[in-house]
Amino acid sequence: MNVVVSVGGSVLSPGDPERVAAHAAVVEALHDAGHEVSVVVGGGSTALEYIEVARELGANEMKLDDIGIAATRLNARLLIEAIGEAAVQTPPETYDEASVALRRGDVAVMGGVAPAQTTDAVSAALAEYVDADLLVYGTSVSGVYTADPKKDPDAEHIPEISAADLVERIAGIEMNAGAAAPVDLLAAKVIQRSGLRTIVLDGTEPERIQRAVETGEHDGTDVLPENGGADPDDWSTGSVTDAAGGDE
Ligand code: UTP
Repeated sequence: MNVVVSVGGSVLSPGDPERVAAHAAVVEALHDAGHEVSVVVGGGSTALEYIEVARELGANEMKLDDIGIAATRLNARLLIEAIGEAAVQTPPETYDEASVALRRGDVAVMGGVAPAQTTDAVSAALAEYVDADLLVYGTSVSGVYTADPKKDPDAEHIPEISAADLVERIAGIEMNAGAAAPVDLLAAKVIQRSGLRTIVLDGTEPERIQRAVETGEHDGTDVLPENGGADPDDWSTGSVTDAAGGDE
């Protein structure tokens, strides 16, 4: 299976080498099992720290985004070091570079690409670019909820959602300043237009990502493409490949 794994910066804590090594082990295991794997890494606390300081120093938003992108690539380098020779040794800076690496049989680990977006959107764009069968978001929450589960005790977990409903839900969340969506709106829109089979799950334990790719089983949220796609239960039979075509 051709899979893009998005690892949130908050999940891949740079201060914790064991966590980085555990994510690397999962990427290597999937690669060794014959899957085509690309990884997009977020900036997490490193990005936030640098952006905050630069903002106080008067940097404008475009420059802050450039600093954020640099932080994502820094985090990507940690994962690259942990993966070793299966990974391209420098984070690709374009989708094409990542795709060339994939065609060579290497694992591409990249960060951000361009200002005014986040690595959520980069992950969806890369998945579209390389015609991935599956996009997995490893975030700090266990998928999509009716409200922010970190703030609202009544928030209910949504196990399955259509891409169109995801776009609508996230658009609603992003209207409320300070509210955090597990995946941002641009990412949701790319997922919708490309018909990408997508899973949003808690990535703090990387084994969950491996299990989701290998079996389709997870405790997160399945984002179902408009055309229905393959049933997650059919993962192991390989029929998920047929679900990736999209409707364009
Ligand atoms: P992240 O994708 O890490 O943002 O990029 P985030 O919302 O903090 O996500 P998590 O918590 O890590 O999952 C960090 C910053 O880098 C810039 C943006 O400023 C973003 O807020 N960035 C990243 C870009 O401008 N373009 C990109 O393609 C990626």
